[in-house]
Amino acid sequence: MGVVKKILGFILAKPPGQPRNSGRRQKHPFKGMKPPEIFDLVYQNGLWGKDSQGRSISGSGSHENRIKDPYIQAIRGIIRKHNLKVIIDLGCGDFNVGKNFVEACERYIACDISNVILERNKKIFTEDKIEFRNIDIARNELPLGDIACVRQVLQHMSNDDILRFVNQIKATSPYKFLVVTEHLPSADGFPENLDKPVGPNIRAAMNSGIVLDKAPFNLRAKTTEVVLEVNEAQEGREDAIIRTTVYEF
Ligand SMILES: C[S@@+](CC[C@H](N)C(=O)[O-])C[C@H]1O[C@@H](n2cnc3c(N)ncnc32)[C@H](O)[C@@H]1O
Repeated sequence: MGVVKKILGFILAKPPGQPRNSGRRQKHPFKGMKPPEIFDLVYQNGLWGKDSQGRSISGSGSHENRIKDPYIQAIRGIIRKHNLKVIIDLGCGDFNVGKNFVEACERYIACDISNVILERNKKIFTEDKIEFRNIDIARNELPLGDIACVRQVLQHMSNDDILRFVNQIKATSPYKFLVVTEHLPSADGFPENLDKPVGPNIRAAMNSGIVLDKAPFNLRAKTTEVVLEVNEAQEGREDAIIRTTVYEF
């Protein structure tokens, strides 16, 4: 089987009417690959989908209006209310969401682990105040700013890598606001923060999702507020929400 077919099978495997991956263990198709290589491969092969021009995208959460538009309104509101000038985008992807905040700030640093998507972004989004940086948020120093947005990124990372990221936030306090958006099961009482290997799939297969203020991450802030929940459930998909939580330090 070709590598792309194997990987697609891994991401999409879901026997009808059952949670993904139930009943059988699947081999991890990215074993031995480094995180930047994994996400380069995702974008090279359009594993999260393609747009009308055939270019790979960062997934439905970055492109479906009913999912992204309420988020854009909410974040613009926070930027204006607190007069925030420097925005840090951690895991900016194809920048279809991030591009909507450029006008509202003085400087925008958009980071991603994948050089493939960053090189494309650099050609399309050329405003002086935007800087694209190749950064692994688990391993590299985080850029300083007023607000950082990490949207549907942690869901693709392993717990060890998320912990490295959270420890840097705790140690250096680089932001006034950290905005975290994650795909979660919609029913209360799901097991939070189950571990998974780095990759394009998410914890939905295990009926889990990332909640940073819960163990083992235990992020503490002056205030923690859920500002948005969008229902992700659609025909053929499991029942889920995309939740945005704002941590103010
Ligand atoms: C699903 S996309 C979301 C993109 C964007 N935040 C949005 O909401 O449209 C996840 C992005 O996170 C990036 N990513 C994954 N792990 C990362 C890491 N450790 N450091 C930086 N970026 C990472 C991937 O390359 C991908 O572009």
